[in-house]
This record gives sequence, C-alpha cells and structure tokens, in this order.
Amino acid sequence: MRIAGISFKRVKKSRGRAAAAGLMVLVLASVLTAACTEVPNPTATAVSFEPTPAAPGTRDLVLAGASAADLAAFAAEPIELPEGNASNGEALHTSLGCAACHSVADDVIVGPGWKGLYARAGERTELEAEDYLVQSIIKPSSYIAEGFTNVMPAFDYLSDQELADLIAFVKANE
Ligand code: HEC
Repeated sequence: MRIAGISFKRVKKSRGRAAAAGLMVLVLASVLTAACTEVPNPTATAVSFEPTPAAPGTRDLVLAGASAADLAAFAAEPIELPEGNASNGEALHTSLGCAACHSVADDVIVGPGWKGLYARAGERTELEAEDYLVQSIIKPSSYIAEGFTNVMPAFDYLSDQELADLIAFVKANE
C-alpha cells in the first residue's frame, strides 16, 4: 500500500499481536514501577518517647500484694485530708486502742513507738509522710514496718477527720 509516497508493508498478523503484547507489558511495567516508587513522606513531628512514671508508692503496694483495683483506686484518688486537731488525735490514740500497741515514746509495745514517727514516715516509702500514715492506718498490710509483723488491724472505717486528727497528733509528737 502506498500513501503519500511512503510504502507500508502489511505487517503479519502474528507479529502485530506480539508487538501489541510487548507494548502491553511495557505499559504495565511502567505503571507498576510508577506505583512502586517510594515517595519520601517525612513525618511531620519527631516521635518523642515520654514514659509515664508509675504512681508513687505503686511498687511498694505491688510488692505488698495489693490488688490491681487497690492500685488503681490509690493512684486515682490522691488523699486530701481536712485540717487535723492534735488533741482530738491524742484522745483517739487512746479511745481507738492504738495506745495498746503504740507508745507515744520510742519504746515498742507491739508496734513501733510514735516518737518521731512523722519524720520517719516521709522516709519509709516514696509516699509523702501523710499518705504513708493514711495507708498504714487504713490498710496496714500495705507496708509492714521493718522488724514487725502484720498484726495491726485495719482501721478502714475511720472518717477523714479522724485520720487527720490522728496524723496531727503524730506530727506534733516529734
Ligand atoms: C494490735 C496492735 C496494734 C494496734 C491496735 C494498732 N497498731 Fe499500728 N501497728 C502495729 C504494728 C505491729 C505495726 C508495725 C507493722 C506494720 O507496719 O503494719 C504498726 C504500724 C503502724 C504504723 C506505721 C508505723 C511505722 O513506723 O511505719 C502506723 C502509722 C500505725 N501503726 C498507726 C496506728 C493507729 C493510728 C492505730 C489506732 C487507730 C494503730 N496503729 C493501732 C500494731 C498495732
């Protein structure tokens, strides 16, 4: 066939198919290559690692065998006590029976004497003195003072005011 002086040979049908298939492969390959090209996608902000510190005292509570519910409740509710009254605390020390086991001096009856207890309480664990005292009164099994056994009953029925008064008495008894 001749068009405008250029002659075209009829390409054999089979060669035409091969050419078409080749072209197809080429198109597919380029599409795939384009799709697979790794486009750099920088992260907008650098990932920083900030571990959350465990709640204070948690480790000691775990070691003392506190339940997961205890730990969660303790971590969720920081202890907020009202203003304590030391002389009411002194009366409670007797009326509640603390005096049967705790001297206000430094001698041991059954439990540790209370002389200087407030200062010691702040050193016992990671807890603040007041938190440690509250824990030691409402759940004595959480922390066992060294050299003693777990014989103190749990005074978990005391009101916040009674706890505050007892602690004020402990604090005053330096
Ligand atoms: C049956 C005796 C007994 C009674 C009653 C008792 N305790 Fe205790 N208490 C102990 C013993 C023993 C320990 C030491 C073991 C421990 O840490 O649980 C202790 C520990 C403590 C501690 C921690 C002291 C420290 O040095 O870390 C506090 C605070 C405390 N008691 C307060 C009280 C209060 C307040 C009362 C009264 C409401 C009371 N206890 C009643 C026996 C008793």
